[in-house]
Amino acid sequence: MIRILWSPFLARLFAAVAAVIILKSCYAGAETTNRYDSFRFGVCYYPEQWPESLWEQDAERMQECGVNTVRMGEFGWALMERREGHYDFGLFDRAIATMARHGIKTIFGTPTATPPKWLTHKYPEVLNVLADGQLVNDQSRRQYSYNSPVYRRFCREIVEALAQHYRDNTNIIGWQIDNEINNEDPEDFSDNARTAFRAWLKKKYGTLDELNVRWGTVVWSQIYSDWDQIDLPFPTPAFHNPALMLDSRRFTSDSATDFLNEQVKIIHRYRPNDFLTHNGVFKNINYYDFTRNLDLYAYDNYPTFDDSPRFLTGTRLAQVRSFTGRFMIMEQLTGPAGQTYLLRSPRPGETRLWAMQAVAYGADGLLHFRWRSALRGAEEYWYGVLDHDNVPRDRFNDFKQEGQEMQKIGAQVFGSTVDSEIAVIKDFEDEWVFNYQFLTEETKVSAACEALFQAASEQRYNIDFVSPTADLSHYKLVFAPQLALMDTPLAERLRRFVAKGGTLIMSAGSAIKDRDNAFTMATIPIGLTNLFGMELDSFQTYQPLSATNNAIRFDDGNSALVDVFAEVLHPTTAHVIGRWDRDYMKDSPAATERLFGKGKAVYYGSLFNVDAARELIRHYADDAGLKPLLESVPDQVEVTRRTNGQTDFYFLLNHGDTPATVDVGDGFADILSGEPAAANQTLAPFDYRVLRRDRSTE
Ligand code: GAL
Repeated sequence: MIRILWSPFLARLFAAVAAVIILKSCYAGAETTNRYDSFRFGVCYYPEQWPESLWEQDAERMQECGVNTVRMGEFGWALMERREGHYDFGLFDRAIATMARHGIKTIFGTPTATPPKWLTHKYPEVLNVLADGQLVNDQSRRQYSYNSPVYRRFCREIVEALAQHYRDNTNIIGWQIDNEINNEDPEDFSDNARTAFRAWLKKKYGTLDELNVRWGTVVWSQIYSDWDQIDLPFPTPAFHNPALMLDSRRFTSDSATDFLNEQVKIIHRYRPNDFLTHNGVFKNINYYDFTRNLDLYAYDNYPTFDDSPRFLTGTRLAQVRSFTGRFMIMEQLTGPAGQTYLLRSPRPGETRLWAMQAVAYGADGLLHFRWRSALRGAEEYWYGVLDHDNVPRDRFNDFKQEGQEMQKIGAQVFGSTVDSEIAVIKDFEDEWVFNYQFLTEETKVSAACEALFQAASEQRYNIDFVSPTADLSHYKLVFAPQLALMDTPLAERLRRFVAKGGTLIMSAGSAIKDRDNAFTMATIPIGLTNLFGMELDSFQTYQPLSATNNAIRFDDGNSALVDVFAEVLHPTTAHVIGRWDRDYMKDSPAATERLFGKGKAVYYGSLFNVDAARELIRHYADDAGLKPLLESVPDQVEVTRRTNGQTDFYFLLNHGDTPATVDVGDGFADILSGEPAAANQTLAPFDYRVLRRDRSTE
């Protein structure tokens, strides 16, 4: 009886407990959703470098310019912890509060890129070591070793102190962890790094026998009989084992990622609602892994590092978008810039155009570097919104105009994505492979990515960069530039993509090795000869400038100049679509195509240069039924499209110093004016237009 009475009660109790658990877990889920919920516009601000009496006016002027966000704190460690273990965040408390009075939120930078002097002098083992064995001097920044357990402890402590201190501060919305990890010195040759590298290898290979076999240490008598004999790739009289080189890059990337994640965990513990990010793209980091625990990525965008930045910047922005699917700009160029040398200055209008270019490629926020040009220190020549004398001039007016426009545009495009039907598989490991064994000076994976981006942009297609593990199913055309390292899952993914109807175009230098960076006894392209219906027969490498040496002649009469490799292909089931134009391999197969399942597998027996990319996109985008974003757009105007599914946003960016007219046709509205847009849009030099069109009206 008792059992009968108690059973329903127990059942109800269990149900109630389960409901609480479910609710709690939903709530925990809700708690971890980040606060990146609207378009952020603003500046990097260094209150510690200015008298406090200026802050109020700074905040007022920022507000006048439409600023809703500043980043601060990332270089302030020496002020936050003047003596070991004595924290004082008072200066930043007051700066955050000043900004908040003007409706401005703060992204706080953890200060671990610039350790204070007491730390580096009392604990010199925290310093990085250069490849030549020289201890890095501490009179600048980024002098630390993220493999140092002592440094890691100090970082954990300051980050924990910060997160705890700001636990309830509602004016902080997000955190930038450290600053530009791997910029300035992307390698660590310290004893700490050496010890960590050995531990990393032990974990990966388990036994030395396994490592010896997979590294091929029998070559040049490199067989290891003790883990302590293994070293980092210090300079040697002759060349390094490519397996060691690749593993040392993977180790660097994993160490940087671990360093980042340690801070992620601490901040999440105290501030579960804040978004977390990191800024910049540098060497020896696999950003797909590195960004896994971040809410969005932030890029530092300084187009004047290149003389003609249009396509290069576009390529980089599109790549950054691939890391977490969304991104912001943490530092955007504002004016003339340099540390010891000066880059070329932007022309009037260019900074505004470049800022909008970032939004055109998907940025959901943008901060300029920096508010006021520094009076002293390493960056005196890096100009901000205001000049050194604090007098508002052209850059201030441009910034204000940009801020007003960004507010309107950002509010509408926030959260929309760049919809691409073309993708390029970019594998950081392949980049590392070619950075060391670079074969000739032209063999850069990044050059192939830029060429593909440029050709797609010229032909008015959006294009994505994706990781080798990405889902390819929503793309129609996929390029595989120099995918040197092939493994079974990747080969299977490529095969599935083609079988289901996609067009895959792979270049020379692909599927040549396994993930140990070693050749195998399989025929190249390894694991894919059946998909492509061809085998690599032989190749010739031309030296720079190779393009003058040969060309691929396509069946349709067009041709593309050779880029380093002239591979002679042996088709088994594929048909030949291009042949070598001259030299001893004249008329032999240079490019093949094979129907496989519902799709096409195209093999291109040279690297992708602009010429090849233009030709291949022209032919295969059309073949795959892709439609350009707009037709007949003047060359100097760049076009991209973001969409939220219901509304498409078209960005027209005039990179020319002359006016340009684009015939967009009917049905568009101008985001800035809110009015219907004329069919003919004339853009002044370096001007832009953002137009919207609802899909239902198309
Ligand atoms: C970035 C860095 C900033 C500043 C800026 C201009 O690389 O994050 O701190 O140095 O460049 O040089």
